[in-house]
Amino acid sequence: MRKTNIPAIQTIFLGGIARLLPILLCCVLAASAQAPAPDSPQIEAKAHALLAKLTLEQKIELLGGVDSMFTHAVPTIDLPRFKMSDGPLGVRTWGPTTAYAGGAALAATWDPALARKVGEGLGHDARARGVHVLLGPGVNIARSPLAGRNFEYFSEDPFLNAAMVVPYIEGVQSQGVIATVKHFALNNQEYNRHNASSDVDERTMREIYLPAFEAAVTRAHVDAVMNSYNLINGVHATQNAFLNLKVLKGEWGFKGILMSDWDATYDGVAAANNGLDLEMPSSRFMNATVLLAAVKDGSVKESTLDDKVLRLLRTEMRYGFLDRPQFDPADSPYSVPDRAIALDGARESITLLKNDGHLLPLDSSKIKTIAVIGPNAYPAVTGGGGSSYAHAFEPVSILTGIANFVGPNVHVLYSRGLPEFTDVIQRTHWENGVKVDVYPSTDFTGTPETYTEPRIEAGNPGRRHSGGEVTRSIRYTASYKADKAGRYVLVATCPTWSHEAFTLIVDGKPLPAPPRAEGQAPQSAILDLNAGQTIEVSVEYLPDSPTARLSVGIAYEPDLISEDVRKIAADADVVVVAAGFDEPTEGEGFDRTFELPWGQAALIDAVTAANPHTIVTLTGGGGMETRSWLGKVPALLHAYYPGQEGGTAVAEVLFGKRNPEGKLPVSFDRSWNENPSAPYYYPIKGADTSLHVTEVGKPPVDYVIPHVKYDDKLMVGYRYWTTTGKHPLFPFGFGLSYTTFNFSNLQVPASAQSGSTVTVSFSVTNTGNVAGAEVAQLYVSDPSATVKRPERELKGFEKVRLDPGETKHVTLTLDARAFSYWDELAHKWTIENGKFVIRVGDSSENTPIHADLTLN
Ligand code: BGC
Repeated sequence: MRKTNIPAIQTIFLGGIARLLPILLCCVLAASAQAPAPDSPQIEAKAHALLAKLTLEQKIELLGGVDSMFTHAVPTIDLPRFKMSDGPLGVRTWGPTTAYAGGAALAATWDPALARKVGEGLGHDARARGVHVLLGPGVNIARSPLAGRNFEYFSEDPFLNAAMVVPYIEGVQSQGVIATVKHFALNNQEYNRHNASSDVDERTMREIYLPAFEAAVTRAHVDAVMNSYNLINGVHATQNAFLNLKVLKGEWGFKGILMSDWDATYDGVAAANNGLDLEMPSSRFMNATVLLAAVKDGSVKESTLDDKVLRLLRTEMRYGFLDRPQFDPADSPYSVPDRAIALDGARESITLLKNDGHLLPLDSSKIKTIAVIGPNAYPAVTGGGGSSYAHAFEPVSILTGIANFVGPNVHVLYSRGLPEFTDVIQRTHWENGVKVDVYPSTDFTGTPETYTEPRIEAGNPGRRHSGGEVTRSIRYTASYKADKAGRYVLVATCPTWSHEAFTLIVDGKPLPAPPRAEGQAPQSAILDLNAGQTIEVSVEYLPDSPTARLSVGIAYEPDLISEDVRKIAADADVVVVAAGFDEPTEGEGFDRTFELPWGQAALIDAVTAANPHTIVTLTGGGGMETRSWLGKVPALLHAYYPGQEGGTAVAEVLFGKRNPEGKLPVSFDRSWNENPSAPYYYPIKGADTSLHVTEVGKPPVDYVIPHVKYDDKLMVGYRYWTTTGKHPLFPFGFGLSYTTFNFSNLQVPASAQSGSTVTVSFSVTNTGNVAGAEVAQLYVSDPSATVKRPERELKGFEKVRLDPGETKHVTLTLDARAFSYWDELAHKWTIENGKFVIRVGDSSENTPIHADLTLN
C-alpha cells in the first residue's frame, strides 16, 4: 500500500491546520476503505432498505448509465452517481495519466506479481481521479493476429490469461476500485463487431474462450463484467441467457454488476430477462417506456429488476462508496511510483526473437554512432487505438530512450525514414485530376453529381455536402502514370474510428482486402508498373459523415525512403529500425493487416543494404509479416505496446543493462494464411441471418447477422502447431536471453489419484555468464485420451531469476482442471484416467524434460 505520503502533505500544509483537516479526513476515510468488504448481513439489510424506498421508475432509471461514464444518482436516497473510466492500459478517460504496458505486453512478462502491481497502480490512478469503476481488463483470446484489440487483451492461451488477469483484478480492487472484466464473450475480432455472431461449440467455449472470465469471477472476485458487442451462437451477448444466466451468474456465482458495452444493447426486455444489469452509456432499451410496460404486462418481473438494483447497491456498499469519497488526495494523478511500474512492464515484456552472432547486447563503449530510424522511433508509440488509448504525461520514445541511455559520448542519428501519410497524398500527381461522382444513394445508384478535384484527400469533396443525413456513395476515378519501372505503393486510409468503408480498384479489378464493416484499417498495395504505364485507379467510398474523410495516394516505392536514410545508416556503427503498428493502424473497431504498414518493409530493406548491423524493433499486438526481410536482419525485438516507458526499456535491453526476459504470448506466424483461424476468421458466405430491432421512438431496424464459424475449434495458436507437428516462425512461449538456461531433475509421481492435486518439481540453472530470468513452462499432454485433445496445453509456469551458475528448484502444483477436458455430452469437466505426459521447457516447442504420470 502506498498511503505513506501523508506526512509530506502535512509538511506542505503545516501553516494551515484548518485547511489540512478535510484532506486528512479524506485520507483516513479512504485508507480505511480499501479492498471491498465481504458480503455481510448488514450490507444485505441496508441494500434492501434502500431498495424499499425506490419507486419502480427510480429502479429502472438505475439500470442505465448517464453522461457517457456515470451511473445514475438517486438524490431521494442519497445515492450519488458513480464515475467510470476506460482502461485497461491506463485510467484514460479523465486526462493524461500513466500509460502501462498493454495486455499483450503484460502477458509477455509471464509475471503475475507484476500484473498485480499494474492493477494496484491503476487503482491509485483511479482514486486520484475519483473513479469508482475501471473498464478493464480485457481477456479475450488472441485467436488471430489481425484482431484489432489483441494488444489490450493478453494471449492466445486461457491458462496464461487467467494467471495474469487474477492478480491484475485483485490489484485494482485492493485499492477500492471496481475492475470490469471485458468483453464477455467471444470478441475475437473487430470485424462488424455489433452484428457478427461468433458461432462456437460449447467445448471450445469452455476450454479456450471462457476460462479467463471464469478465473476473474471465481478466483479474483471481479465486481463488474462487461458484455461484448457481438452475438454468440446467434444471440447478442447482452441478452444471452446461456452466458449471462447459466454460466456467469449461475455456475460461477457472479454477484456483481453485469454491464453492457457502450451501445451493445439491442432489446430492453430480452436484456432485462437475460442477465444484463446496467445498460451503458444510457438506457436506450432498458428504459421506463419499455420496462414499465413490460412489468405491467408480466413479460419482465419486478423482482428481476430488483435483483439488478440490489447488485448495484450491494457492490457500491461493499466498496464503501456511500460512506467515503472516492477521490483520494494521497494518490497523485502524476505518479512517480506508477512510472516505475510502467517501466517494469516494458522491461519485462520485451522479447528478443533473433540475435545472430550475438549482435546484442551492444557495447556502448565501442559504439561511436548509432542511427535510429523508422516511423515508430519518434514519437513514442505507447498503445494501440481506440477506447484504451492512454495519453501519457511524458512518454519516452525509442529515439529518446536510446539517446538518454547512451549520453553525450555516442552520436545519435535519426530519420523517420518514411514520409507522413499526408505527404504521400499531397505529392501524388493524378493525370487530369480526379473525377468525383457523388451518388445520392449508398450503393452508387442514381444520377451522380460530378466534379473534378486535384487529389483524393480528406475534406475535399465533402465541402460540397456538409450537413444533413449521410446517404451518399462516392466514386473517385483517376489515372496515374508511372515515370519509372518498378514497385509503386498505393495507400489509402479513412478514420478507423467510424463506419466508413472503401474499396480500391485498379484497372477495373478490386484489390484483395479482408471483409470489413464498422472501421476499416488503412490499406496499401504494391503495384509493379512499367515505365510510362498508365493505370486507372478508382475508389468506391461509403462515407458516414457529411465530410468525406478518405485519402488515397500513390508513390514510387524507392522514393518513399527518405534521402538521408541510406547515408545515416551507412555512417552508423549500428542501426535500430523502429517498425510496426501504431494507434491509426491497429486498434478498436477494425481488424489490422498482417503486413507491416506501407513502406516499412522497403525501409528495412534499404537500411540493411546500407548497414548489415541492423536491429529491428516491432510494435504491435502480436505477430506480423517479417519473412520478407528477416533473413537480412541479425537482431529482432518485439516490444508489443510497451506503455509510456517503452523507449527506456528498449534502450536498456539493447545495451544489456537489462537481460531480455519476455516470452511470446502468441504463436508468431510467417503469413496470415498459415494461422489456424485463417480459413474461418471471417463469415461464411451465405450464412447470414437477420435480426429485427425495435427501439422506442425509432423506426424498426433489420440487421444482417454474419456468422463467423469457429471451426478451428480448440486448435488455437500453439495447440494447432504442436498437434499438427508443424512449426510457426516463432513458437508461443519463445524468447531469447543474453544467457542460457538448463532444465533438469524433473520429479513427477508415477501415478496419482484422478482429481487430486499433483505436485511437480524440477530445477532451472543459469548456465551462462550474466544474470537473467527464464520462464519455465509446464505443458500437459493426454496421449491416452479417446476424445481429440490438443497435443499439449500450458498448465503451469514460473519465472525464475538466476545469477550465473545459480540453480533454483521450482515446484508447481497441478489441480484437477489441468488434466480435464469439457465433456460435451455430460456438460462437465472430465478427466479420462490413463497416461499423461508432463513436459517442461522454455517454449511450447522446446520442452527438454518430460515424465509420464498415470491417473487412476
Ligand atoms: C469499448 C469498451 C469501452 C467502452 C467505453 C467501447 O467502445 O468496446 O471497451 O470500455 O467503449 O469507452
